[in-house]
Formats: sequence, C-alpha cells, structure tokens
Amino acid sequence: MAIEIKVLRRGDDSILMNVAPAVFDNPIDAKLTREFLEDPRHHIAVAIDDGMVVGFASAVHYIHPDKPPELWINEVGLAPTHRRHGLGKAVLRALFELGRAHNCTVAWVLTDRSNVAAMALYSSVGGTEGADGLSHAMVGYSFGLMDPRKDRSSN
Ligand SMILES: CC(C)(COP(=O)(O)OP(=O)(O)OC[C@H]1O[C@@H](n2cnc3c(N)ncnc32)[C@H](O)[C@@H]1OP(=O)(O)O)[C@@H](O)C(=O)NCCC(=O)NCCS
Repeated sequence: MAIEIKVLRRGDDSILMNVAPAVFDNPIDAKLTREFLEDPRHHIAVAIDDGMVVGFASAVHYIHPDKPPELWINEVGLAPTHRRHGLGKAVLRALFELGRAHNCTVAWVLTDRSNVAAMALYSSVGGTEGADGLSHAMVGYSFGLMDPRKDRSSN
C-alpha cells in the first residue's frame, strides 16, 4: 500500500472532507474541524490512500504549572479495509514525533481491556501497561518519548 502519513495543520480542513467509512464515529463537522486545526494544542495525524483519509490518531498536548508537557492520545481509528497494515503504528508514531517536538516527555492513552487490537497496537509501539486508579475494564499505556528505541518494531 502506498499510503501517505500526514500531520494536519491549520488550513488542511479539506483533507478531512474525504474520509473512508467507519474511520470516525460521526460525520466530520466543518466548524469543529476548523476549530480543532486552529488550536495549537490539538493534533491529528492521518493516513491517506489515494486522496481519501483511511485512518487517524488524534491527541492533545497539555501543560500544568508543576509538570512538563504530556501528550494524551485521544482516539485512533482505521478503516476496516486498512487494518493490520501497520497504519495504526504509523499514525501513532507521527504523533509521538510531534509530542517530542513539543517537549512532551510522556504520551498516554486509555482503552478497554476487551479491545484486543488496541492493546496489541499500543504494546507494539512500546507502550507500558499500567495506570493507577482505573477500573478493571480499562487499561492505560504510557510511552516514554525520550527513547524511541523502546518501540519494539520499526515497520
Ligand atoms: C486498533 C486499531 C487502530 C489498530 O490499527 P491497525 O492499523 O490495524 O494496527 P497495526 O496494523 O498498526 O498493528 C499494530 C500491531 O497490533 C497488532 N494488531 C492489530 N490488530 C490486531 C488484532 N485485531 N488482533 C491482534 N493483534 C492486532 C498487529 O499485529 C501489530 O502488531 P506487531 O507490531 O507486533 O506486528 C484498529 O483495529 C481500529 O481502528 N480499531 C477500531 C477503533 C479502535 O478500537 N480504536 C482504539 C480505541 S482506544
């Protein structure tokens, strides 16, 4: 597959107007898209196949008065036609790179323990399972952004 991985910026709204079915939960809203892309703390990396968005990962980098910036991974989704091709890893890695550029020392994500695919994805990009205070049905993964070598596969 010749797929382009792209981090969207202000002005890239039109890219999100052509999305494959079942990538996002809901139809794309033009006003929310503009607001998202204009906000410097919100990030989205997409996988594009022949002009159509077939996958994405979204995140927010946030700060706190007593803590360094962190990257919270909000959602990851691939079109059913494009799963198991390494694209989930690719869009996450693009966000990790962006997190490093914003001096984030850690990224983290939550998922449901029953989501085998998500747990496999997060493990495969170096995620360490464990977050205090979660219910047993939820699992958290954190990713040290300072050492990309912890990512156990590079394809
Ligand atoms: C979870 C999801 C994003 C994975 O995306 P993907 O592009 O298929 O994942 P990749 O191809 O990059 O695979 C990453 C790793 O996970 C493994 N994996 C992916 N899907 C898997 C599955 N269904 N069962 C077991 N392992 C799986 C791959 O084998 C790969 O492992 P490897 O690096 O050791 O070879 C995709 O299944 C999806 O969109 N699911 C629906 C939305 C969702 O659940 N998002 C997560 C919510 S928190």
